[in-house]
Amino acid sequence: MLEQKEMRKPVRLSTLNKMYENGEPIVMLTCYDASFAHLLDEAGVDMLLVGDSLGMTIQGKSSTIPVSIEDMEYHTACVARGNKTAFIITDLSFGSYQVNEDVAVQNCVNLMKAGANMVKLEGGEEICPLVRRLTLAGIPVCAHIGFTPQSINTIGGFFVQGRTDSGKEKLKREALAFQEAGAAMLLFEMVPADIASEITSMLRIPTIGIGAGVGTSGQVLVLHDILNIYAGRKPKFSKNFMEGSSSIQEAVEKYVKAVKEKTFPTPTHSF
Ligand code: KIV
Repeated sequence: MLEQKEMRKPVRLSTLNKMYENGEPIVMLTCYDASFAHLLDEAGVDMLLVGDSLGMTIQGKSSTIPVSIEDMEYHTACVARGNKTAFIITDLSFGSYQVNEDVAVQNCVNLMKAGANMVKLEGGEEICPLVRRLTLAGIPVCAHIGFTPQSINTIGGFFVQGRTDSGKEKLKREALAFQEAGAAMLLFEMVPADIASEITSMLRIPTIGIGAGVGTSGQVLVLHDILNIYAGRKPKFSKNFMEGSSSIQEAVEKYVKAVKEKTFPTPTHSF
């Protein structure tokens, strides 16, 4: 007889906070459509990130810059239709929150109506007032700091952030400012493992890392990267979980297990 899989209760912000308090790593993966939402949810992924990386993985563009808020809304609705229990977090696309705060709030409202449970935005202390306003409006926010792909043109390349003393201090300042503004979560991209770990221990909100070592409260990777489908460059911080797996489901389950057991990321996937 087929073994009955235990039914998972819907993952809510309170569930994620409980995981954080209990020291259970939070597993996040990017997801852009209904079929993968179903598969990832079944495999035990806690959070599905409708990332603006869809500009590259789905649309074949060379960066996240051209992605529109309508694209994000469309893919959020697709993911929401395929998902049963995972927590959905959606990126605010470049240009959808920088021009005008009222427009930014309206864009977030539209994403929530499409099925998002949380929004993610990239930036520094200048967006703290918006984070506070969104939080007060009932929209949980994840602040994305460190390497922020939407700022590729000002950063000038794919560089690890927070390596210098002033870079480190800037990250600490931003993390505390976002927490103070009401952010429910923080995401570090391409930050030295010791810095991400140190800042995580200073905070009372969960942190998620991508290229930020094993000391964050959870991990995220781009789905296509763990499935070894590289449209462009292969990031050092990613891992091919298809290796040795006989199905996509098995590869995703291995990723979930590795994050939960903290066997991923290793120092070779970190800076
Ligand atoms: O869009 C995305 O995939 C992301 C990850 C890099 C965290 O923001």
